Amino acid sequence: MLIIKNIVDLRAYLAKKRNNGSKVGLVPTMGALHEGHMTLVRAAKATCNCVVVSIFVNPKQFGPREDFDAYPRDLAKDCQLLKDENVDCVFAPSAAEMWPAGNETYVDTASLSKILMGRLRPGHFRGVTTVVAKLFNIVQPELAFFGEKDFQQVAIIRRMVADLAFPVRIISVPILREKDGVAASSRNALLSIQQRAAAVILPQSLEAARAAFESGERSVSNIIKLIRAVLKREPLAKIDAIDIRDSTNLEVVRGKIDRPVVILLTVTIGTVRLIDQCQFYEENE
Ligand code: PAJ
Repeated sequence: MLIIKNIVDLRAYLAKKRNNGSKVGLVPTMGALHEGHMTLVRAAKATCNCVVVSIFVNPKQFGPREDFDAYPRDLAKDCQLLKDENVDCVFAPSAAEMWPAGNETYVDTASLSKILMGRLRPGHFRGVTTVVAKLFNIVQPELAFFGEKDFQQVAIIRRMVADLAFPVRIISVPILREKDGVAASSRNALLSIQQRAAAVILPQSLEAARAAFESGERSVSNIIKLIRAVLKREPLAKIDAIDIRDSTNLEVVRGKIDRPVVILLTVTIGTVRLIDQCQFYEENE
């Protein structure tokens, strides 16, 4: 497995691979890899014969009071995990390589980046779309893999790809959960043992919502009330947002659930902001 740190070398490597007929797949990450990331890597390995995993903690997507400095980093361990999965190449650029002095160009979705998590984290999605657009230009993958854990992120990337005609197919991969149901996340490493135990309230609240939906509840406000009541049982959990949205375009769903929806949850435990989501389809009934 090659570990490449600069754009010129990566382009030269990928040009050779493409000449040999390789199908290139990209898995963008910020490192601190866990099983959630590995599901994306395995999906990429299953469909592409040249898999590039990028590892870059992108400063542009962190706000001034966010956890950029505290974000977990362990490149050696990440590379070992990726080698074990037979990944072809890790692209691990420095901040200076990705954002040399004087850079000033951004890619942003006009409205999708301002709603939901975009309200809680102004500028976050602009940083994401900008770095992902740049990674697409550098790697020029045929396929790129994103997790449904970050539901809004995938929706925004799909929008960007359609709007700007990037020649890449976006593959979204279902959320991977740890044994107790908590979504695997690099940020779980920032939780104390007690806080990690408290995090189980997120999937529990979504399970309660699913059970209510499956027994016929369709009222958006009742389901939100139910989720809030379950979350309130955990004193360490601070609710940032509970939203029920149309899962195709993230539009607000009012009154009754009458189409496929996604429930998006943002909860802070200690100083760590955790997200989770689940989707309801009528077909499941
Ligand atoms: P990061 O948080 O490292 O996540 C990288 C990818 O792994 C994302 O597509 C994310 O949705 C996916 N992922 C994380 N946890 C997952 C889980 N439990 N199940 C399934 N997929 C999971 O998301 C980012 O990095 C960045 O914003 C990035 C896209 C790399 C741009 O900087």
